[in-house]
Amino acid sequence: GWAMEDVVDEEIKVIKGTVGLEDHVICALSGGVDSTVAATLVHKAIGDRLHCVFVDNGLLRYKERERVMDTFERDLHLPVTCVDATEQFLSKLKGVEDPEMKRKIIGKEFICIFDDFAQDLEKKLGRKPSYLVQGTLYPDVIESCPPPGSGRTHSHTIKSHHNVGGLPKDMKLKLIEPLKLLFKDEVRQMGRILNVPEAFLKRHPFPGPGLAVRVLGDVTQENALDILRQVDEIFIQSIKDAGLYDIIWQAFAVFLPIRSVGVQGDQRTHSHVVSLRAVTSQDGMTADWYPFEHKFLNDVSRKICNSVRGVNRVVLDITSKPPSTIEWE
Ligand code: XMP
Repeated sequence: GWAMEDVVDEEIKVIKGTVGLEDHVICALSGGVDSTVAATLVHKAIGDRLHCVFVDNGLLRYKERERVMDTFERDLHLPVTCVDATEQFLSKLKGVEDPEMKRKIIGKEFICIFDDFAQDLEKKLGRKPSYLVQGTLYPDVIESCPPPGSGRTHSHTIKSHHNVGGLPKDMKLKLIEPLKLLFKDEVRQMGRILNVPEAFLKRHPFPGPGLAVRVLGDVTQENALDILRQVDEIFIQSIKDAGLYDIIWQAFAVFLPIRSVGVQGDQRTHSHVVSLRAVTSQDGMTADWYPFEHKFLNDVSRKICNSVRGVNRVVLDITSKPPSTIEWE
């Protein structure tokens, strides 16, 4: 609505005033809605003194890098450096099975890459960038600093959440958090005004540690990541085709670190098992598993086993949150 247009104009003015005419600003894009809208807003305010980086950590979904880079460059004209750090991440994760350990390694690696990016930029510009853009939302602000007596627990005590926001503390960058008074639906509204494509604004949330928390155990086992990408893409495409994408909060596949016996053609197989998960939710704090139609499930399961080599069994996760979390790790 027009009120949000005023918010956008006001924010742009504030950012211009804060950054001034000479300082440079950096931003880590995750491919999610929040960092994208925040960066687009800052770009409107200061143009190419904004420098964004997108890190391919090798844990992204099928064609994700191409898809988001396309949106950044073609639709939003954002100045983005894409860093392919697949080898760097996967070599550090090799053999690691503990979920918390995986998250810590990914967070640390991300900081190293971001540090390198900032240093390279400093060499190129002959001056240090002064500001860092973060897509922090109002609920994040409340969550990391719960009002006294609210009874809200810090969700970080349950899992160490990694966002691209977790950045080096010794970097001495001042923060720009243009979304920190907004709720998610307001960020989407702002995105619309800034011409972020509608399909992008409606994308399901995706965790910072990516597919690492959806391959149970060692992410480098067999060709787990490759299998998971194919299965996930079939599942998501089927959900879109059935017109269910927008009513589901999040849907994805999980690679299980076991094999089961099957029969395909006249061959006995001993192959991988994947689980499908889809939930509805308001805010991710609680969630209900989504009751797909029998035919939908049957078609998806067939399609997966017929087209993804190495998978002979598909199971469905029918647990809500609580007692489960949305992700499996
Ligand atoms: P859980 O699994 O805790 O997830 O029920 C709640 C929501 O948070 C997302 N999630 C994460 N997002 N970094 C993120 O940026 C993380 O480490 C992370 N872990 C979970 C999850 O996908 C769901 O939307």
